[in-house]
Amino acid sequence: MTTFLDISQISKTFESEGNRFEALRNVDLKINEGEFISLIGHSGCGKSTVLNIVAGLLDVTAGGVFLQHKEIDEPGPDRAVVFQNHALMPWLSVFGNVELAVKTVFKGVKNRREMREWIEHNLRLVNMYDARDKMPHEISGGMKQRVGIARALAMQPKVLLMDEPFGALDALTRAQLQDSTMEIHRELGNTVIMITHDVDEAVLLSDRIVMMTNGPAATVGQIVEVNLPRPRNRLALAEDTQFNHCRHLVLDFLYAAQAEPAAAAGAETGPCAAAAAAQTCDGQRSGTADGGRKADHRAGAQRGRPSRAA
Ligand SMILES: Nc1ncnc2c1ncn2[C@@H]1O[C@H](COP(=O)(O)OP(=O)(O)O)[C@@H](O)[C@H]1O
Ligand SMILES: [Mg+2]
Repeated sequence: MTTFLDISQISKTFESEGNRFEALRNVDLKINEGEFISLIGHSGCGKSTVLNIVAGLLDVTAGGVFLQHKEIDEPGPDRAVVFQNHALMPWLSVFGNVELAVKTVFKGVKNRREMREWIEHNLRLVNMYDARDKMPHEISGGMKQRVGIARALAMQPKVLLMDEPFGALDALTRAQLQDSTMEIHRELGNTVIMITHDVDEAVLLSDRIVMMTNGPAATVGQIVEVNLPRPRNRLALAEDTQFNHCRHLVLDFLYAAQAEPAAAAGAETGPCAAAAAAQTCDGQRSGTADGGRKADHRAGAQRGRPSRAA
Protein backbone atom coordinates (compact mmCIF):
# COMPACT_ATOMS: atom_id res chain seq x y z
CA MET A 1 0.00 0.00 0.00
CA THR A 2 1.37 3.41 -0.87
CA THR A 3 1.71 6.11 1.75
CA PHE A 4 -1.26 8.45 1.87
CA LEU A 5 -0.04 10.89 4.47
CA ASP A 6 3.70 11.18 4.89
CA ILE A 7 4.98 12.95 7.99
CA SER A 8 8.57 13.04 6.88
CA GLN A 9 11.33 13.75 9.39
CA ILE A 10 9.69 16.85 10.81
CA SER A 11 11.35 19.01 13.41
CA LYS A 12 9.96 22.05 15.12
CA THR A 13 11.79 24.66 17.13
CA PHE A 14 9.71 27.48 18.61
CA GLU A 15 11.46 30.81 18.79
CA SER A 16 10.14 33.80 20.65
CA GLU A 17 11.86 36.78 22.24
CA GLY A 18 15.27 35.22 21.80
CA ASN A 19 14.22 31.90 23.38
CA ARG A 20 14.51 28.69 21.40
CA PHE A 21 12.60 25.57 22.30
CA GLU A 22 13.10 22.43 20.28
CA ALA A 23 9.72 20.73 20.60
CA LEU A 24 10.04 18.02 17.93
CA ARG A 25 12.99 16.30 16.33
CA ASN A 26 12.73 14.02 13.31
CA VAL A 27 9.17 12.86 13.77
CA ASP A 28 8.61 10.36 10.98
CA LEU A 29 5.37 8.54 10.29
CA LYS A 30 3.85 7.04 7.15
CA ILE A 31 0.08 6.67 7.24
CA ASN A 32 -2.05 4.61 4.86
CA GLU A 33 -5.40 5.69 3.50
CA GLY A 34 -8.19 4.77 5.87
CA GLU A 35 -5.89 4.14 8.81
CA PHE A 36 -6.91 5.19 12.31
CA ILE A 37 -3.84 6.43 14.17
CA SER A 38 -3.70 7.46 17.81
CA LEU A 39 -0.97 9.73 19.10
CA ILE A 40 -0.25 9.23 22.76
CA GLY A 41 2.40 10.65 25.05
CA HIS A 42 2.87 12.67 28.19
CA SER A 43 1.41 16.13 28.44
CA GLY A 44 3.57 18.73 26.73
CA CYS A 45 5.55 16.23 24.65
CA GLY A 46 4.45 17.72 21.32
CA LYS A 47 1.33 15.86 20.17
CA SER A 48 -0.67 19.00 19.37
CA THR A 49 2.35 20.45 17.62
CA VAL A 50 2.43 17.44 15.28
CA LEU A 51 -1.32 17.68 14.66
CA ASN A 52 -1.21 21.43 14.04
CA ILE A 53 1.61 20.98 11.55
CA VAL A 54 -0.45 18.37 9.67
CA ALA A 55 -3.42 20.76 9.82
CA GLY A 56 -1.23 23.45 8.25
CA LEU A 57 -1.67 25.74 11.26
CA LEU A 58 2.03 25.61 12.16
CA ASP A 59 5.04 25.44 9.88
CA VAL A 60 7.96 23.06 10.33
CA THR A 61 11.55 23.95 11.05
CA ALA A 62 12.79 20.97 9.05
CA GLY A 63 11.22 18.09 7.14
CA GLY A 64 7.78 18.17 5.59
CA VAL A 65 4.27 16.71 5.56
CA PHE A 66 2.91 15.35 2.29
CA LEU A 67 -0.69 14.40 1.60
CA GLN A 68 -0.87 12.28 -1.53
CA HIS A 69 2.62 13.55 -2.37
CA LYS A 70 1.59 17.20 -2.17
CA GLU A 71 3.35 19.22 0.51
CA ILE A 72 1.15 20.78 3.17
CA ASP A 73 1.94 24.41 3.88
CA GLU A 74 -1.42 25.88 4.87
CA PRO A 75 -4.80 24.79 6.25
CA GLY A 76 -7.17 23.28 3.71
CA PRO A 77 -10.55 21.59 3.49
CA ASP A 78 -8.83 18.27 2.84
CA ARG A 79 -7.88 18.26 6.56
CA ALA A 80 -10.56 18.94 9.16
CA VAL A 81 -9.74 19.43 12.82
CA VAL A 82 -11.85 18.56 15.86
CA PHE A 83 -10.59 20.22 19.03
CA GLN A 84 -11.29 19.28 22.63
CA ASN A 85 -13.42 22.33 23.12
CA HIS A 86 -15.98 22.34 20.36
CA ALA A 87 -15.78 25.90 19.05
CA LEU A 88 -19.35 26.33 17.84
CA MET A 89 -20.72 29.67 16.70
CA PRO A 90 -23.07 30.57 19.57
CA TRP A 91 -25.47 32.53 17.35
CA LEU A 92 -25.99 29.66 14.92
CA SER A 93 -28.14 26.57 15.42
CA VAL A 94 -26.71 23.05 15.27
CA PHE A 95 -27.74 22.93 11.62
CA GLY A 96 -26.32 26.41 11.00
CA ASN A 97 -22.94 25.49 12.45
CA VAL A 98 -22.55 22.57 10.06
CA GLU A 99 -23.99 24.63 7.22
CA LEU A 100 -21.27 27.24 7.66
CA ALA A 101 -18.55 24.68 6.92
CA VAL A 102 -20.52 23.04 4.11
CA LYS A 103 -21.14 26.38 2.37
CA THR A 104 -17.45 27.16 2.49
CA VAL A 105 -16.35 23.84 1.05
CA PHE A 106 -19.14 23.07 -1.41
CA LYS A 107 -19.97 26.53 -2.73
CA GLY A 108 -20.66 26.22 -6.44
CA VAL A 109 -20.50 22.41 -6.22
CA LYS A 110 -23.72 21.51 -4.41
CA ASN A 111 -26.99 23.37 -4.82
CA ARG A 112 -29.15 24.44 -1.84
CA ARG A 113 -31.13 21.21 -1.68
CA GLU A 114 -28.02 19.05 -1.98
CA MET A 115 -26.33 21.05 0.75
CA ARG A 116 -29.31 20.63 3.07
CA GLU A 117 -29.41 16.89 2.48
CA TRP A 118 -25.68 16.62 3.04
CA ILE A 119 -25.87 18.56 6.32
CA GLU A 120 -28.77 16.40 7.50
CA HIS A 121 -26.89 13.25 6.53
CA ASN A 122 -23.89 14.27 8.61
CA LEU A 123 -26.06 15.24 11.57
CA ARG A 124 -27.64 11.78 11.40
CA LEU A 125 -24.19 10.17 11.46
CA VAL A 126 -23.55 11.68 14.89
CA ASN A 127 -27.13 11.28 16.13
CA MET A 128 -27.83 15.01 16.16
CA TYR A 129 -30.50 15.20 13.49
CA ASP A 130 -33.36 15.55 15.98
CA ALA A 131 -31.55 18.39 17.74
CA ARG A 132 -30.70 20.20 14.51
CA ASP A 133 -32.64 23.37 15.38
CA LYS A 134 -31.24 23.77 18.89
CA MET A 135 -28.80 26.51 19.75
CA PRO A 136 -25.36 25.67 21.24
CA HIS A 137 -26.39 26.91 24.72
CA GLU A 138 -29.32 24.46 24.67
CA ILE A 139 -27.22 21.33 24.22
CA SER A 140 -24.77 19.37 26.40
CA GLY A 141 -20.99 19.20 26.02
CA GLY A 142 -21.23 15.77 24.42
CA MET A 143 -23.80 17.04 21.91
CA LYS A 144 -21.61 20.02 21.07
CA GLN A 145 -18.73 17.67 20.45
CA ARG A 146 -20.97 15.62 18.14
CA VAL A 147 -21.73 18.79 16.18
CA GLY A 148 -18.00 19.51 15.96
CA ILE A 149 -17.46 16.04 14.53
CA ALA A 150 -20.41 16.39 12.11
CA ARG A 151 -19.01 19.71 10.95
CA ALA A 152 -15.59 18.17 10.36
CA LEU A 153 -17.05 15.14 8.55
CA ALA A 154 -19.31 17.32 6.42
CA MET A 155 -16.24 18.95 4.93
CA GLN A 156 -15.47 15.48 3.54
CA PRO A 157 -11.83 15.82 4.50
CA LYS A 158 -9.20 13.39 3.32
CA VAL A 159 -7.81 13.42 6.84
CA LEU A 160 -9.67 13.92 10.10
CA LEU A 161 -7.50 15.38 12.83
CA MET A 162 -8.79 15.13 16.39
CA ASP A 163 -7.02 16.71 19.37
CA GLU A 164 -8.28 15.00 22.52
CA PRO A 165 -11.80 15.12 21.12
CA PHE A 166 -13.46 13.38 24.06
CA GLY A 167 -11.15 14.65 26.80
CA ALA A 168 -13.66 17.00 28.40
CA LEU A 169 -16.56 14.54 28.50
CA ASP A 170 -17.93 12.25 31.19
CA ALA A 171 -17.17 8.54 30.87
CA LEU A 172 -20.53 7.48 29.49
CA THR A 173 -20.72 10.21 26.84
CA ARG A 174 -17.15 9.48 25.97
CA ALA A 175 -17.92 5.80 25.41
CA GLN A 176 -20.91 6.67 23.22
CA LEU A 177 -18.84 9.03 21.10
CA GLN A 178 -16.04 6.49 20.78
CA ASP A 179 -18.59 4.00 19.46
CA SER A 180 -20.00 6.58 17.01
CA THR A 181 -16.49 7.39 15.86
CA MET A 182 -15.79 3.71 15.17
CA GLU A 183 -19.06 3.36 13.24
CA ILE A 184 -18.35 6.46 11.17
CA HIS A 185 -14.83 5.29 10.47
CA ARG A 186 -16.18 1.93 9.33
CA GLU A 187 -18.77 3.57 7.11
CA LEU A 188 -16.59 6.28 5.58
CA GLY A 189 -13.14 4.70 5.74
CA ASN A 190 -11.60 8.06 6.52
CA THR A 191 -8.00 8.53 7.57
CA VAL A 192 -7.82 9.70 11.17
CA ILE A 193 -5.17 10.99 13.52
CA MET A 194 -6.47 11.28 17.06
CA ILE A 195 -4.58 12.55 20.08
CA THR A 196 -5.65 10.95 23.32
CA HIS A 197 -4.51 10.45 26.89
CA ASP A 198 -6.76 7.47 27.32
CA VAL A 199 -5.00 4.17 26.76
CA ASP A 200 -8.20 2.12 26.45
CA GLU A 201 -9.58 4.59 23.94
CA ALA A 202 -6.40 4.37 21.90
CA VAL A 203 -6.49 0.56 21.76
CA LEU A 204 -10.22 0.38 21.10
CA LEU A 205 -10.21 2.79 18.17
CA SER A 206 -6.81 2.52 16.53
CA ASP A 207 -5.09 0.53 13.86
CA ARG A 208 -1.79 1.84 15.20
CA ILE A 209 -0.86 3.66 18.38
CA VAL A 210 2.06 6.01 17.96
CA MET A 211 3.75 6.70 21.27
CA MET A 212 5.84 9.82 21.56
CA THR A 213 8.88 10.27 23.76
CA ASN A 214 9.03 13.07 26.29
CA GLY A 215 10.21 16.42 25.05
CA PRO A 216 12.19 18.49 24.42
CA ALA A 217 13.10 17.13 21.02
CA ALA A 218 10.24 14.65 21.23
CA THR A 219 9.96 12.00 18.56
CA VAL A 220 8.20 8.73 17.79
CA GLY A 221 9.27 6.31 20.48
CA GLN A 222 7.38 3.14 19.73
CA ILE A 223 4.45 2.06 17.57
CA VAL A 224 1.95 -0.59 18.62
CA GLU A 225 -0.13 -2.22 15.91
CA VAL A 226 -3.59 -3.16 17.05
CA ASN A 227 -4.70 -6.05 14.90
CA LEU A 228 -8.03 -6.63 16.59
CA PRO A 229 -10.80 -7.39 14.09
CA ARG A 230 -13.50 -4.77 13.47
CA PRO A 231 -16.20 -4.04 14.39
CA ARG A 232 -14.91 -3.91 17.94
CA ASN A 233 -17.06 -4.28 20.98
CA ARG A 234 -15.80 -2.66 24.17
CA LEU A 235 -17.47 -5.15 26.47
CA ALA A 236 -16.19 -8.20 24.65
CA LEU A 237 -12.71 -6.71 24.43
CA ALA A 238 -12.46 -6.07 28.16
CA GLU A 239 -11.58 -9.75 28.60
CA ASP A 240 -9.65 -10.12 25.35
CA THR A 241 -6.02 -11.20 25.70
CA GLN A 242 -4.77 -9.26 22.71
CA PHE A 243 -6.61 -6.11 23.75
CA ASN A 244 -5.08 -6.28 27.20
CA HIS A 245 -1.69 -7.05 25.79
CA CYS A 246 -1.81 -3.90 23.63
CA ARG A 247 -2.93 -1.90 26.67
CA HIS A 248 0.05 -3.16 28.61
CA LEU A 249 2.48 -2.26 25.85
CA VAL A 250 1.21 1.30 25.87
CA LEU A 251 1.13 1.55 29.66
CA ASP A 252 4.64 0.13 29.89
CA PHE A 253 5.87 2.73 27.46
CA LEU A 254 4.14 5.63 29.16
CA TYR A 255 4.69 4.74 32.78
CA ALA A 256 7.95 2.84 32.67
CA ALA A 257 10.04 3.82 29.67
CA GLN A 258 8.84 7.43 29.65
CA ALA A 259 8.76 7.99 33.40
CA GLU A 260 11.53 9.82 35.24
CA PRO A 261 15.02 9.09 33.85
CA ALA A 262 15.97 6.93 36.87
CA ALA A 263 12.88 4.75 36.42
CA ALA A 264 13.52 4.53 32.71
CA ALA A 265 16.97 3.12 33.33
CA GLY A 266 15.38 0.39 35.46
CA ALA A 267 12.75 -0.39 32.87
CA GLU A 268 15.35 -1.04 30.24
CA THR A 269 16.19 -4.42 31.77
CA GLY A 270 12.88 -5.03 33.55
CA PRO A 271 10.11 -7.41 32.54
CA CYS A 272 8.01 -4.68 30.92
CA ALA A 273 10.67 -3.74 28.43
CA ALA A 274 11.38 -7.38 27.67
CA ALA A 275 7.71 -8.06 27.06
CA ALA A 276 7.37 -5.04 24.84
CA ALA A 277 10.23 -6.17 22.69
CA ALA A 278 9.19 -9.80 22.41
CA GLN A 279 5.46 -9.69 21.91
CA THR A 280 3.62 -9.82 18.65
CA CYS A 281 0.92 -7.25 19.21
CA ASP A 282 3.24 -6.17 16.45
CA GLY A 283 4.86 -3.58 18.65
CA GLN A 284 7.92 -2.47 16.77
CA ARG A 285 10.64 -0.40 18.26
CA SER A 286 11.89 2.26 15.98
CA GLY A 287 15.55 3.16 15.93
CA THR A 288 14.73 6.22 17.97
CA ALA A 289 13.02 4.35 20.77
CA ASP A 290 15.28 5.77 23.41
CA GLY A 291 15.41 9.25 22.00
CA GLY A 292 13.22 10.61 24.75
CA ARG A 293 15.36 9.18 27.47
CA LYS A 294 18.36 10.82 25.90
CA ALA A 295 16.41 14.01 25.78
CA ASP A 296 15.59 13.63 29.44
CA HIS A 297 19.28 13.66 30.19
CA ARG A 298 19.71 16.81 28.20
CA ALA A 299 21.54 18.48 31.04
CA GLY A 300 24.16 15.74 30.83
CA ALA A 301 26.51 14.50 28.19
CA GLN A 302 23.86 14.38 25.44
CA ARG A 303 23.60 18.10 25.63
CA GLY A 304 26.77 18.41 23.62
CA ARG A 305 25.11 17.05 20.51
CA PRO A 306 24.05 19.67 18.02
CA SER A 307 20.29 19.95 17.92
CA ARG A 308 19.76 22.58 15.31
CA ALA A 309 17.09 21.47 12.93
CA ALA A 310 16.74 24.36 10.53
N1 LIG B 1 3.84 28.62 20.30
C1 LIG B 1 4.70 28.03 21.13
N2 LIG B 1 5.81 28.68 21.53
C2 LIG B 1 6.70 28.09 22.36
N3 LIG B 1 6.58 26.83 22.83
C3 LIG B 1 5.49 26.13 22.46
C4 LIG B 1 4.48 26.69 21.59
N4 LIG B 1 3.52 25.76 21.38
C5 LIG B 1 3.90 24.68 22.10
N5 LIG B 1 5.07 24.91 22.74
C6 LIG B 1 5.80 23.96 23.58
O1 LIG B 1 6.02 22.77 22.84
C7 LIG B 1 5.87 21.63 23.66
C8 LIG B 1 4.83 20.72 23.04
O2 LIG B 1 3.54 21.32 23.15
P1 LIG B 1 2.22 20.58 22.66
O3 LIG B 1 2.42 20.10 21.28
O4 LIG B 1 1.09 21.49 22.91
O5 LIG B 1 2.17 19.33 23.67
P2 LIG B 1 1.04 18.22 23.90
O6 LIG B 1 -0.05 18.45 22.92
O7 LIG B 1 1.74 16.90 23.71
O8 LIG B 1 0.59 18.37 25.32
C9 LIG B 1 5.49 22.14 25.05
O9 LIG B 1 6.64 22.17 25.84
C10 LIG B 1 4.98 23.53 24.79
O10 LIG B 1 5.21 24.36 25.89
MG1 LIG C 1 -2.05 19.01 23.24
